[in-house]
Amino acid sequence: MKRTLSLPGLAYGGDYNPEQWPEEVWAEDVRLMAEAGVNMVSVNIFSWALLEPAEGEYDFSRLDRILDMLYCHGIAADLATPTAAPPAWFFKAHPEALPVDHDGRTLSYGSRQTFCPSSPAYRTAALRIAGELGRRYADHPAVVMWHIHNEYGCHNAECYCDTSAQAFRRWLREKYADDLAALNDAWGTTFWSQWYYDWDEIIPPRATGAVPNPTHQLDWRRFCSDELLSLCKAEREVLAQAAPAVPATTNFMVMYNFDALDYWRWAPELDVVSNDHYLRSTDPESEIDIALSGDLVRSLAGGPWLLMEHSTGAVNWQPVNRAKTPGELRRNALAHVAHGADGIAYFQWRAAKAGAEQWHSAMLPHAGTDSVIWQDVVRLGAELRALGEVRGSTGTAETAIVWDWDARWAMEMPSQPSAALRYLDLVRSWYEPLWRSGVAVDFVRPDADLSAYRLVLAPSLYLVDDAGATNLTSFAERGGTLAVGFHSGAVDENCHVRLGGYPGAFREALGVSTDEYFPLLPEETVGLEGGGTGSLWSERVRATGAQTVSAFTDGPLTGVPAITRHGYGAGTAWYVATLPDPDTLAALLKRASDEAGVAPVRTGIPRGIEAVLRRSPTADYLFLIDHLGLGAEVPVAPDAVELLTATPLTNGTVTVPPGGVAVIREVRG
Ligand code: GAL
Repeated sequence: MKRTLSLPGLAYGGDYNPEQWPEEVWAEDVRLMAEAGVNMVSVNIFSWALLEPAEGEYDFSRLDRILDMLYCHGIAADLATPTAAPPAWFFKAHPEALPVDHDGRTLSYGSRQTFCPSSPAYRTAALRIAGELGRRYADHPAVVMWHIHNEYGCHNAECYCDTSAQAFRRWLREKYADDLAALNDAWGTTFWSQWYYDWDEIIPPRATGAVPNPTHQLDWRRFCSDELLSLCKAEREVLAQAAPAVPATTNFMVMYNFDALDYWRWAPELDVVSNDHYLRSTDPESEIDIALSGDLVRSLAGGPWLLMEHSTGAVNWQPVNRAKTPGELRRNALAHVAHGADGIAYFQWRAAKAGAEQWHSAMLPHAGTDSVIWQDVVRLGAELRALGEVRGSTGTAETAIVWDWDARWAMEMPSQPSAALRYLDLVRSWYEPLWRSGVAVDFVRPDADLSAYRLVLAPSLYLVDDAGATNLTSFAERGGTLAVGFHSGAVDENCHVRLGGYPGAFREALGVSTDEYFPLLPEETVGLEGGGTGSLWSERVRATGAQTVSAFTDGPLTGVPAITRHGYGAGTAWYVATLPDPDTLAALLKRASDEAGVAPVRTGIPRGIEAVLRRSPTADYLFLIDHLGLGAEVPVAPDAVELLTATPLTNGTVTVPPGGVAVIREVRG
């Protein structure tokens, strides 16, 4: 039974690191927090060295004062275990706990997350401090949630040391039920003389002369995710023993090139799912990513979630760190709420004067309150208060996109037909036209219950096991519309090619069979019937039942089907054997959606306005976000209310200001 976070309205705040400042500054902090409407802050994330000055010796006096102060000012604490940054004394005593990278280099301490996830000394020390903290603050009235660790795996997702090797072997013995022959079979070790005669011969996939074994690498990725998850669960248990009623979270990073953890396995272990999201300076379109990541986190959580970190302005870890444009801070935050966030938090409250992140933006910038960011932060606080009633409401969708970390890991390993295939980019290409047209999307695992959906898309599913493949094809057979992207269904869960023609697992349902892939070179495109082009990929598809919707019009595959449609059972199955240009892909997905009976959340929404719906048992909350800066008039239900301005919309329309946001409550009758 999951514990819930009990806060009235939406949470608002950020990482609060008062230990970095003299105590005189704290009074100003809480005063300004009240001005901004901050109601929850994450504290103690990197405070281990201050809390435990020497092994087993504790000094909680400063944290006592911080929590008491927050409580006195009505600010809740999301209290972190400080285990992401072990102190220097720990590594002096346990140098064997330092991580070793892929090339065999032992990393040094001096930053954060420089520990080996399999280190027994680290586990003992982490659980000890988590236990002390849990027992001391279990009943503290400020503490409303445990924040376990910080961004597991951000810097140390993989450690290749001998201790990790032993842990990997233990994990493998369990997975293969102590049957080494089963492992040899799964890994295909007759290839290149890789046969193992003893478990002790197995090592992590360290730097080696040629391409490592694919299944070895994939099991390694699975192990690394599980190894960190076991640390998270162990901390969660220690905290639950001390404080059975307090919910626990840890901050995920479902986007931004981070792909180390299989969050489908993580999400069920946490009471509250939270996520950190940063924008890519180089991508002016990265507001799409807010929607995509929000929908993915909402799907992982099965409902509302918390945005634990994002930035008010520039970050400090990209080559050039772009500041946000006017209105962007507000638009970003409210877009996260639209996609299911029940709380908005930033890294961090007060911009640091010293340390590695001194050039990272914050809620209270170096310039202080005489700054645009501060004005925006205060305005946002008031607006989030005005949106309090959306808490607990959630989006629903009739379209699902299949998202699978195993498939992502496997496809992005070396020695594929093309090294240019990036999982996130492929999924984003298919997500984008749906986002632009206001179609709500859930993300699902291949073996999810699909009964709520009319349309299921698998833009990239290189690896799929039999159960997942059957689940997807029976969805079509029973009347659903399934669309599958190229190079899907190619291998099973052990990365073994499904023989007899691609796309292996989906051949029959799609009514096609491919005998050879023809990946395209980086700048190469291929013409498509109907006037579009394809990039990245082509293949020699033979229709074995499917009808050709569009064929390749040039190159060696002229006349060969590129996009096909197959009546399968009571439903339809599409195959897309290239990456169509955005207009062609949009038209294709529009046709598939129309045929499936999927509608956008609202019709008549002007171009550039994102429309997202959250629903409670009694009301619809329609978020309208202007991404083009043009503003618009949008029709709404009679008797609707715009919540940010508390305006009754008596004339049946709402004005979305240029670059702005409107949130409309429509009571269902
Ligand atoms: C996150 C991290 C924060 C801070 C932030 C800066 O990855 O959790 O502690 O470093 O990035 O953008």
